Amino acid sequence: MKQPYVYITKKIPKEVIGPLEKIATVKMWNGESEKVPVEFLKREVANATALFTTLDDTIDHSIIENSPQLKVISNMAVGYDNIDISTATKHSIFVCNTPDILNDTTADLAFALLMSSARRIVEGQQFIKDGYWKDWGPLLMVGRDIHHKTLGIVGMGRIGEKVAKRATGFDMEVLYHNRTKRDSVGEALNATYCSFDELLEKADFIINLLPLTDETRNKFDESAFSKMKNTAIFINVGRGMSVVEEDLIYALQNGEIASAGLDVYRHEPISNQHPLLKLDQVVLVPHIGSATIETRTKMMQLTVQNIVNVLEGKYPEAYVNKDVKL
Ligand code: DGY
Repeated sequence: MKQPYVYITKKIPKEVIGPLEKIATVKMWNGESEKVPVEFLKREVANATALFTTLDDTIDHSIIENSPQLKVISNMAVGYDNIDISTATKHSIFVCNTPDILNDTTADLAFALLMSSARRIVEGQQFIKDGYWKDWGPLLMVGRDIHHKTLGIVGMGRIGEKVAKRATGFDMEVLYHNRTKRDSVGEALNATYCSFDELLEKADFIINLLPLTDETRNKFDESAFSKMKNTAIFINVGRGMSVVEEDLIYALQNGEIASAGLDVYRHEPISNQHPLLKLDQVVLVPHIGSATIETRTKMMQLTVQNIVNVLEGKYPEAYVNKDVKL
């Protein structure tokens, strides 16, 4: 019998794909720094049974409908806004993700951005590199306190809970806004539910953790930034499309908010000419929320395991379109 064929859109360590190679023919995109071109991917996937993707691969209806053998799309991310879920579901294709294993790591990064922005870590290093550090000054590189301030978490899911837990160690007051009020989480983490507007008005730090949906697209716009305190620090580790970047830049340039720490952008990767890079008070990292060796290894393993399960006739360990049945 012909072996199933699995296509992987990124270079993955040999030892991680071992379990797949035992049961399938595996082909992998070999580009060093360049992403697999869409037309090439379409051809490669036309006969595939399974597809291993990452969050920057757009798997739209044209790719799915051109792949009649496809049984599973396994995305190495908790988010899955890059995949056309309804078309996949219509064709009974499992769409898998990697939830939970990245919660603490992503919360760490959110906090790292918060602290770097508040305490001007990147600016401070640049100041030394540029040779400006001549003496100690009472107000040299002063930032803002983190402890005893108010943190506003927008999107209180599993990563939000981990962020709230970290905030309690800093004696912060935690506000959150979510589609639904989560009483158990609120009590356990001493986090208070409030409306989006109230959170924007009261929080010193605002962390966006929302997944990208039609409701969350462009949520942080001119009107949202204008409601924040002038001293507010905005952190985004959710999705770039939730933020209208021109409005964020305007708010930063005009002192409507104090600074920002960003892991995600509307169009990734951003170039080194992006206007956000011209603002000293902004800390930018290249979508590395889950990027630790421990977590990325677990994510790759789960992405592979989800495929192995389907190829062996079992349900995947983590999948998002529950209407698909074996
Ligand atoms: C995800 O997995 O969706 C995150 O954006 C990774 O950092």
